Amino acid sequence: MKYIDENVEVTGKKVLVRAGLNVPLHEERIVDDFRIKNAIDTLKFLHTQGAQTIVIAHIGRRGNESLRHVSELLSEHVPVVFGEEHLEKMKDGDIVLLENLRRDPRETNNDESFARELADLAEIFVQDAFEVCHREHASIVGVAKHLPSYGGLLLKREITALSMAFKPRHPALFILGGGKVITKEPLAQKFEGIYDAVFIGGILQNEILSARGLEIGKSAVEDGAVPFSVLSSPKVVEVEDVIIEDEKGGTANISIHDVAPTDTIVDMGEATTRALIDTLHMYKTIVWNGPLGWYERGYDASTVTLLHAVAKSNAKTIVGGGDTVAVIQKEGLEDDLSFVSTGGGAMLQFLQEGTLPGIEALG
Ligand code: 3PG
Repeated sequence: MKYIDENVEVTGKKVLVRAGLNVPLHEERIVDDFRIKNAIDTLKFLHTQGAQTIVIAHIGRRGNESLRHVSELLSEHVPVVFGEEHLEKMKDGDIVLLENLRRDPRETNNDESFARELADLAEIFVQDAFEVCHREHASIVGVAKHLPSYGGLLLKREITALSMAFKPRHPALFILGGGKVITKEPLAQKFEGIYDAVFIGGILQNEILSARGLEIGKSAVEDGAVPFSVLSSPKVVEVEDVIIEDEKGGTANISIHDVAPTDTIVDMGEATTRALIDTLHMYKTIVWNGPLGWYERGYDASTVTLLHAVAKSNAKTIVGGGDTVAVIQKEGLEDDLSFVSTGGGAMLQFLQEGTLPGIEALG
């Protein structure tokens, strides 16, 4: 697959960029600009080359949000204007960001007519939205059929960094947390085969404890189908203690053997986290996706402590997942990690399959 670079003639040409700008909003304010910062390189490059760049992206799930605020933030870094009314009079070097693609249901339906309408806007297509390359949407897999297509600079960084996870320098540690267990079970199984140790937090750990016959009380579970190779592997680090929330809303750090039927496991315990941290010095590669505790309810203590230790380690560190990245941003650890992925589900699927529909579409 080809990436956009100086050898592609873009000066004076209309270039359609699918960017990854799906940032969290709270009361119309952008809570986390990590993906916006990562989208800048490709846009700056095209601006400098004198292309007429049309940026398409989505924000939110259902299409009721607007990209207007994203445009304002983006314009602090590149000269971008917002809205299709600017398409008429574009000059070389201009950048126009269009409104949320998901306002048109044809985007998520991967409608051919929508893909063609988007393609008709330009002469060249650049795919840079790694975070959404796992979706078979019109702007991800449809447009590339109609235009000469290239990967953008962020897509290149993501593919290069995440591909390293498949051939780690050993010893290598894989850390997996969060929910969406159905995508994480096969991943835990795969990396148990490639890596020297696997640490599992989040809902999958609840399911492991339950499968081992331990009481997990009211803790969250999803499908409970933990692969046998994960359950029986000596490489999967055993958890000694957990933080629980009891029926009155109180919390306690207790042994995994002391969980009551009325308790809810909300985070990894301090002894477990400390024991893992004590082993970090020996790893040459650490790959991590997903928080260890119930992040949405504010239980991020083990994730924060472990992230600081991972950031200080000498290993090559590759970390991703929306909530994990939010903690990285909050703790200011981004520059201390080798690579922070803009992908959540996309990172997981790439690690599982080694490619994504949006990448294949460029082939
Ligand atoms: C993400 O934020 O992970 C991507 O933009 C995909 O969003 P989606 O899950 O709404 O398709």
